[in-house]
Amino acid sequence: MRKRSSRYPQPMTRRTFIRRLTGFIASHKLMTAIPVSIVGASGWLNHDSIALRMYAWDLYYPQLSPVLEGKCLIQLSDLHLYTLRISAERIAAILRKHQPDLVVFTGDLVSARADLDKSAAYLSALRTSPACYFVPGNHDYRYFSSSLFNRYTELIQESGWILLRNQSEFLPELDLWVIGIDDPSTSRDNVKLAYTPLLEESVTSFRLALAHSSDCLDFVAKYGADLLLTGHTHGGQIRLPGLKPFITNTYLGDKGIYEGYHIIQNIPLYINRGIGCSRLPFRLNVLPEITKFTLHQGTQPPECTILPY
Ligand SMILES: [Fe+2]
Repeated sequence: MRKRSSRYPQPMTRRTFIRRLTGFIASHKLMTAIPVSIVGASGWLNHDSIALRMYAWDLYYPQLSPVLEGKCLIQLSDLHLYTLRISAERIAAILRKHQPDLVVFTGDLVSARADLDKSAAYLSALRTSPACYFVPGNHDYRYFSSSLFNRYTELIQESGWILLRNQSEFLPELDLWVIGIDDPSTSRDNVKLAYTPLLEESVTSFRLALAHSSDCLDFVAKYGADLLLTGHTHGGQIRLPGLKPFITNTYLGDKGIYEGYHIIQNIPLYINRGIGCSRLPFRLNVLPEITKFTLHQGTQPPECTILPY
């Protein structure tokens, strides 16, 4: 019988494929390790930049007005449209599912002048409640001339959002004040001015204070708030496993308080990690966040559940 010549290729079986692959990896460790590491790292960064989480908090207040029992508000922060890879439709679908009584945005919608043209469409899609409030962050000021900033504020309002810059508004149907503080991180905060309408009377209504950064906390503590919602830190945006963030850009962040719920100076404070990215177009170990707060009468400590989206 004629023997088959070894010059002819043998049919590839699963066993020979695995043997050849392991042989290749063994003899080309560095060559394979580099691209495998790059693919792995980019997959990790990609996941951490788009893996949206909803943090659903139940907050309890002994003196809560009966009209606020079970009412919920949703906070969005730091979208940074220029590098954002999470669509308005995806966020809007989450908002519609939870049917918030109030939606608040705590600054940094844009990250470039080119975002001006995107902002109206994005904000219109996110307007999923009759009451949507917007306070500016440092990036909302950074890229625009006075006239472009004027156009930007018009777009915000034409999209159905109420822009508060050191201003307050009372919602009688919720027995709630929304106190909108202008950006503290660029010293535009004038907390006294924002609280002016509340100073004229003894207020028993819920006081919801909004600011881009927690650096206004001393003044907010002076005037009082039942909840202060902030963003700006991005939770550090990039965190190596087991380490604290390198940058938080806030006074409290320097002391290790850069995300989540805290009671400081008698003010219930929430620091939102935000959704988008600034400077570097990715997140690492700091997932993007939407936060829902449901208010209850009671004395229990706050409770949080995390929902993946
Ligand atoms: Fe930001």
